[in-house]
Amino acid sequence: MAEKNARQIAPAQGKLGVLCVGLGAVATTFIAGVENIRRGAARPIGSITQMGTIRLGKRTEKRAPLIRDFVPLAALEDLVFGAWDPIPDDAYTAALRAGVLDRHEHVEPIAAFLKAIKPMPAVFDQSYVKRLEGKNVKPGSSKRELAEALRKDIKQFKTKQKCDRLVMVWCASTEIFISPGPSHWTLDAFEKAMDANDPTIAPSMLYAYAAIMEGVPFANGAPNLTCDFPAMEQLAKSKGVPIGGKDFKTGQTMVKTVLSPMFKARMLGVAGWYSTNILGNRDGEVLDDPESFKTKEESKLGVLEYILQPQLYPELYGKMYHKVRINYYPPRGDNKEGWDNIDIFGWLGYPMQIKVDFLCRDSILAAPLVLDLALFYDLSQRAGLSGIQEWLSFYFKSPQVAPGLYPEHDLFIQQTKLKNTLRYLMGETQITHTDLEYYQEA
Ligand SMILES: NC(=O)c1ccc[n+]([C@@H]2O[C@H](COP(=O)([O-])OP(=O)(O)OC[C@H]3O[C@@H](n4cnc5c(N)ncnc54)[C@H](O)[C@@H]3O)[C@@H](O)[C@H]2O)c1
Repeated sequence: MAEKNARQIAPAQGKLGVLCVGLGAVATTFIAGVENIRRGAARPIGSITQMGTIRLGKRTEKRAPLIRDFVPLAALEDLVFGAWDPIPDDAYTAALRAGVLDRHEHVEPIAAFLKAIKPMPAVFDQSYVKRLEGKNVKPGSSKRELAEALRKDIKQFKTKQKCDRLVMVWCASTEIFISPGPSHWTLDAFEKAMDANDPTIAPSMLYAYAAIMEGVPFANGAPNLTCDFPAMEQLAKSKGVPIGGKDFKTGQTMVKTVLSPMFKARMLGVAGWYSTNILGNRDGEVLDDPESFKTKEESKLGVLEYILQPQLYPELYGKMYHKVRINYYPPRGDNKEGWDNIDIFGWLGYPMQIKVDFLCRDSILAAPLVLDLALFYDLSQRAGLSGIQEWLSFYFKSPQVAPGLYPEHDLFIQQTKLKNTLRYLMGETQITHTDLEYYQEA
C-alpha cells in the first residue's frame, strides 16, 4: 500500500529551459535527439526517465508504472534549449561537425530547428582548456563581471523563451586540474577571488555560481572542479538550488562499476586493471592535453578504490595495479573504443583474466544522461530538495557527496538509491528485498 506522506511537489507546468554550457558533440546529440523523439522519428533509448519503470509495493501487487507516469516530470514537448560556446557554430553546424548523428536521418529533417539554436558568447579562457580556441567569448575585466554577464544571459533567456523554470548542464570541455583551496572554502572568499581574478576560479565555476544565484539547478557532466566545494554547496543550500555531479558515467567507467562489485560480491581478488581508450572527437583532442587529462584521470581512477575497499580486503585488493589511459586517435571520431584487461584471482590464488572491448559511441551514451539529469534536477527543485543530490550519483563517475561521506560508485546501489528516492518523494514504501513474509510464520 502507498504511504500517505508523499512530499509536496509543485506541478511541472509551463516550459523548462535546458541551458547547456558547451554546444559540442554531447549537447547537440542530446538536443537533436529530443527533437527527433518529439517528432516521432526516434526512441529515447538509454533514458531512465522515458523508458524506465519502477516497482511499487510487493511483487504480488504487480505495480510497475513508467517512471514518467509515477513522478511529475517535465514533458519533452515542454523543453526549450539554450547554450553557450566559444565556437560560434549553431546547433546544426555543430551537430554535423561532431559527426555523431546520421546527417540524412536525424539532422537534415530538423535543420531549421537546430539552426535556430545559436550559442551565446561563452565565458572562456584558454588557460583552462589548452587545446581549444574560440572567438565567441564574452569580454569582461573581472571574473565577477563575467559571472554577472552570465546571470544576465540566464534572465534574458528565461524571459525571451517564456520559460517557467530552467536547469543548467555543463556539457563543455574538461578544464585543467584544480585542487580545492582557500578561495573555495566560503562564499565570501570565492567572491573576493572572483574580484581579484584569482586563477583558482575557473570559467565552469562562474557558470555554476551564476546558475545558483539565479535559482537554476546545476549538473556537471565533466570532471572539473566546478560546484563541488564548500562555497558552492553552501550557496546552493541557502538559495534552495539542487546541484551535483560530476563527469557523466557512460562507457568504460560504467562497465567498471558493474564488474568490480561482482568481484567483490564473490570475494574474487583483483591483481590488476589496465584500461585504455582511443577516441578521435574534440573531447579526445582536449583530453590529449596532460592538464585536462589529469582531471579526467582522477575521476576515472577513483571508482575502484571505493568499490573494492582494499582497506577491508587487503588480501584481495591491497596490491591491485590500476592504470587508465586515453589516447587521441582522430580516425575514430566519436566512436570510442575502450579496452580493459582485468587480472583476477580465485580459489587458492589461481589467476584468471577478463578482457572487455567496448566499441561504444560516446555521445550516444551521454545524451540520455543529459536528458534524465535535466528532468530529475528540475523535479528535485520542485520537490523542495536543495544542495547536493546524491540520489543522482547513478549518472556520474565522481558523485558529489556530503563532507565525511565516501561516494557510492556501485551502479546498482546507485540505481536502488535513485528509485528509493523516487518512492520516498511519492510516499511509497521503500523496497528492502527482505521478503521474509513469504516464507516465515508471523
Ligand atoms: N560523451 C561522453 O560519454 C562523456 C562522458 C563523460 C564526460 N563527458 C564530458 O562531457 C563534455 C562534453 O563532451 P563532448 O564530447 O560534447 O565535447 P566537445 O568538445 O564536442 O564539446 C564541448 C564544447 O564545449 C565548448 N566549451 C569549452 N569551454 C567552454 C566554456 N568555458 N563555455 C562554454 N562552452 C565551452 C567547446 O567549444 C565545445 O564546443 C566533456 O568535458 C567530456 O569530457 C563526456
